[in-house]
Amino acid sequence: MSGKYLVTGGAGYVGSVVATHLLEAGHEVTVLDDLSTGFREAVPAGAEFVEGRVHDAAKWLDPSYDAVLHFAASSQVGESVAKPEKYWDNNVGGSMALLAAMRTAGVRKLVFSSTAATYGEPVSTPITETDPTVPTSPYGATKLAVDHMIGGECVAHGLAAVSLRYFNVAGAYGSYGERHDPESHLIPLVLQVALGARESIAVYGDDYPTPDGTCVRDYIHVADLADAHLLALDAAVAGEHLVCNLGNGSGFSVREVIETVRTVTGHPVPEVAAPRRAGDPAVLVASAATARERLGWTPSRADLAGIVADAWAFARREETHG
Ligand SMILES: NC(=O)c1ccc[n+]([C@@H]2O[C@H](COP(=O)([O-])OP(=O)(O)OC[C@H]3O[C@@H](n4cnc5c(N)ncnc54)[C@H](O)[C@@H]3O)[C@@H](O)[C@H]2O)c1
Repeated sequence: MSGKYLVTGGAGYVGSVVATHLLEAGHEVTVLDDLSTGFREAVPAGAEFVEGRVHDAAKWLDPSYDAVLHFAASSQVGESVAKPEKYWDNNVGGSMALLAAMRTAGVRKLVFSSTAATYGEPVSTPITETDPTVPTSPYGATKLAVDHMIGGECVAHGLAAVSLRYFNVAGAYGSYGERHDPESHLIPLVLQVALGARESIAVYGDDYPTPDGTCVRDYIHVADLADAHLLALDAAVAGEHLVCNLGNGSGFSVREVIETVRTVTGHPVPEVAAPRRAGDPAVLVASAATARERLGWTPSRADLAGIVADAWAFARREETHG
């Protein structure tokens, strides 16, 4: 059955890919985005576009919507340390206003972009949803606060909600890919070196207790992530707040990523050793058992070379078309 969805942050990386998947599945989509880090041209053709802030969602939300998919947020960890007030206002203030607008309009289903950053330093690997949540940055703290806010809304007001805790999102879906500024994610940064736009890639720490000494992360293809959002819309139950990790359940080291980029692109990628960064755990890998059991989700694009190849095709297209 087709539905009508409000996608906040649909001009950004993940939101534009999920909006595209919703349209491809025959749904009606409105994108609400203030273009603070997003791009007008990333809003997929076929979606209605409203330029505005989530804080003002009440202006546009009405009872005709079946659900909201909430991606809009500020998400640079480093910036959140320097400007925490921006993160509390945009992520928590924006989400609080959105929940109020949903209550008023009677829109009773929500899928929220949470993050592995809610856990902080892991106590064991792989990370499960019942592990302690002790975020190490204001970014992670604001996302965790929103998770708690949503939980309360489900209990008190019968909202049906799913928080999806993404690990490292990567790859591209056709003409929709990653364009953060500044870019802080490893794969697009290494691809910038392959393109000649950056001289070298810094490897922060090579003495971690991992097989090659560099940090290990769980990379999840953005199209697999999009599949999980559509499944979450079906799995959401009134009065319940379901929290699901989204990752492949296996990790790749920084060195493996760099080596894969060399193989996929055929370009040399010079690397430079740098000291460890504060707050960088050695290994961050998800247990995706809950997503498998509750959403029926199985990632099908877990191969690192495939993820890098899709991101590379997007990066080259961007370089050509600007
Ligand atoms: N990319 C990742 O690896 C990753 C990992 C974990 C969680 N997340 C979460 O997923 C979501 C999407 O991330 P992304 O990588 O696509 O980021 P992005 O910056 O590309 O997209 C965010 C979008 O939200 C918009 N936006 C921000 N604040 C807004 C506001 N107040 N009102 C309206 N629009 C607003 C921006 O303009 C942008 O288009 C975020 O909530 C992020 O915290 C991302």
